[in-house]
Amino acid sequence: LERGVEGQDLAGRHVVVSAGGTREYLDPVRFLGNRSSGLQGYALARAAVARGARVTLVAANVTLPDPAGVDVVRVETTAQLRDEVVRRAAQADAVVMAAAPADFRPVAASESKIKKASDGSAPPLALEQNPDILAEISADRQRGGQVVVGFAAETGDATGSVLELGQAKLARKGCDLLVVNDVGGGAVFGAEENDVVILGADGTSVDVERGSKTSVAHAIWDQVARRFVM
Ligand code: CTP
Ligand code: CA
Repeated sequence: LERGVEGQDLAGRHVVVSAGGTREYLDPVRFLGNRSSGLQGYALARAAVARGARVTLVAANVTLPDPAGVDVVRVETTAQLRDEVVRRAAQADAVVMAAAPADFRPVAASESKIKKASDGSAPPLALEQNPDILAEISADRQRGGQVVVGFAAETGDATGSVLELGQAKLARKGCDLLVVNDVGGGAVFGAEENDVVILGADGTSVDVERGSKTSVAHAIWDQVARRFVM
């Protein structure tokens, strides 16, 4: 999807995108992590640049090269991601939380490498919850008219279908848009293609046909741009 100057619908806008998966350290060499590749967040950043936006990308443990024309801030933990995103959100017209922040972190990280016990026992792992960045940004809008976007990868379960869980999460987080990904079928992590539904707090629901993460990114910016002009 190439856009000429006439397609610069994000010109003059500053957008913050988070990408990747955070790591929570147990000791200097070990961490709890997740399989987020950062591909969708990077595709969002590139698509926003193509549409004329000034883009800040807060990247957690992503191995992809920096996209051209994007201000990239690298972080590791959910606490660092929170600090960088919250600080930059103050000046942003849109914030898109495409990152997968670890929900839990060890209550205490060991300063030295945890050694194996000779009796065959394993150390206990006490965890506490990390802050919810999306909920915080949504509740504490620092800029009028700011559009806040979250993502949800759902499988559906006994309590509800993928879309029902998505609607409940949209309401719980308080964001404007929630990009719902049905991950019940398997391969999404590191995959080239994606297929999503974009739910709006205003009751809209947009089915995005299966396609590249770039085409999904443009479909998301289409919804953000509509809300800027409304
Ligand atoms: N998110 C966040 N901060 C967290 C956890 C999640 O900002 N500590 C954001 C993600 O970036 C994503 C959205 O919230 O945009 C939904 O993430 P998800 O993991 O689906 O939501 P959770 O509230 O953690 O719920 P679950 O129990 O389903 O993991
Ligand atoms: Ca989570």
